[in-house]
Amino acid sequence: MQDQGSISSRLSQRALDSLAAPVPLRAKLIRALPELYHPTLNPTGAINMGLAHNDLMQKDIMEKLSTCLEFQTSDLEYGDPHGSRVLRGLVADLMNRHFNPVIPLHFRNITVVPGAGAAVWQLVQSLADPGDSVMVLAPYYGNFDLDVCVSTGVKLIPIYPHHSMDGGIDMDLLNSTKIIGTKCKVLLITNPRNPHGCCYSVKDMKHLLTFASKHSLHVIFDEVYGLSTFNPIPGTESSLFEPFTSVLSIANIEQWIAPQLVHVVYGMSKDFCLNGLRLGFIVDQYNADLRSAVTLSSMFGYMSTLNDRLVCNLLKDTTWIDWFVNTNRQRLYKAYELTTKYLEQLGIEYIPSGVGPFIVVKIDRLFKNHGQEISFEIEEAIWETALLNGVYIAQGYVFHCLEPGYFRLTYSLEWDHNNLHMLWGTS
Ligand SMILES: Cc1ncc(COP(=O)(O)O)c(C=O)c1O
Repeated sequence: MQDQGSISSRLSQRALDSLAAPVPLRAKLIRALPELYHPTLNPTGAINMGLAHNDLMQKDIMEKLSTCLEFQTSDLEYGDPHGSRVLRGLVADLMNRHFNPVIPLHFRNITVVPGAGAAVWQLVQSLADPGDSVMVLAPYYGNFDLDVCVSTGVKLIPIYPHHSMDGGIDMDLLNSTKIIGTKCKVLLITNPRNPHGCCYSVKDMKHLLTFASKHSLHVIFDEVYGLSTFNPIPGTESSLFEPFTSVLSIANIEQWIAPQLVHVVYGMSKDFCLNGLRLGFIVDQYNADLRSAVTLSSMFGYMSTLNDRLVCNLLKDTTWIDWFVNTNRQRLYKAYELTTKYLEQLGIEYIPSGVGPFIVVKIDRLFKNHGQEISFEIEEAIWETALLNGVYIAQGYVFHCLEPGYFRLTYSLEWDHNNLHMLWGTS
């Protein structure tokens, strides 16, 4: 609960509850921000390997964007709160080319919102009531603690139905999951997964859909890393890991669940290196009432007319966009190879994955080799030491990992080895 001092601010209970809710990812980011590298404010600051950002295509996207900026008199008028028809059509085309939907998407299936996080929030607003809950497959992207709970009165309940952190769904574990009364309304799934970048097999996705159907849950698939995959390896046929399959591409989905319960979140922050532009999409093909509800709520936070046109001009050049997607995959794969080779040299275990831009390392064995057990306190101390020595990384704790000793490292950077030497103390 908020302390008495805040009560004098006369905020609503809803706002006080939101402020009081624990969000480890945010708390860590707030601690790290003053230490982070900034070209003018903090040129000797820590490199940012904690946030999911991709610098590998930055020059290319900057050059392209500078040709897309355009002002028109009509920009001075109100724009379309859920995205212009042109933009929604271009997003539908993009996803038709790359996500292989069974039924091609149409502009009506897309609602534009300011970021994938906002898309999750809007969906939760429309699908669950105060006192209800959302189940999330864990470990999970820590900001869901905000996206699901802020001002909604909805609880987020992690479930852990995997054999291992990177493993597939264990049906016994899934079926033994307790559904809290009838209050659970939504199952939230990130595919490709964050933090550890693995993808669910079609078989697992069907298990999840069946489970959701049995308990009358809506399912939200957050597919925000859907085009940052390098599996099959670019330029080859070989697949090392489970490839990404969008839920939109599952044929005869009605055999597993009523399709009006299935919703997709996508956005341009990750696959297009555009965290700052705030572009997210709610994709829905079967639930017209839901689309009306999110169209209405999109009135209260929407992208500007200038941003809308900028992105239209970007997406219109489909040849360039498809080049970008393929080149990004190749560069991510090269960076992944470099990173994993380096981790192997250092003897650091990692979870192999076919998705960028981050990798999860596991350091409990380093401790076991010295007869010690890792704990969340030690994990915290390592995190702080790394930050003070020039590298911001993400602790497994902020993704609600059950065991200590995991860290997520973003490798899609212009990085040199010195910083990593600092991190692992090998210099
Ligand atoms: C799984 C997942 N969903 C949503 C988001 C938020 O994306 P956006 O910046 O578009 O709000 C992130 C950001 O890291 C993410 O990892």
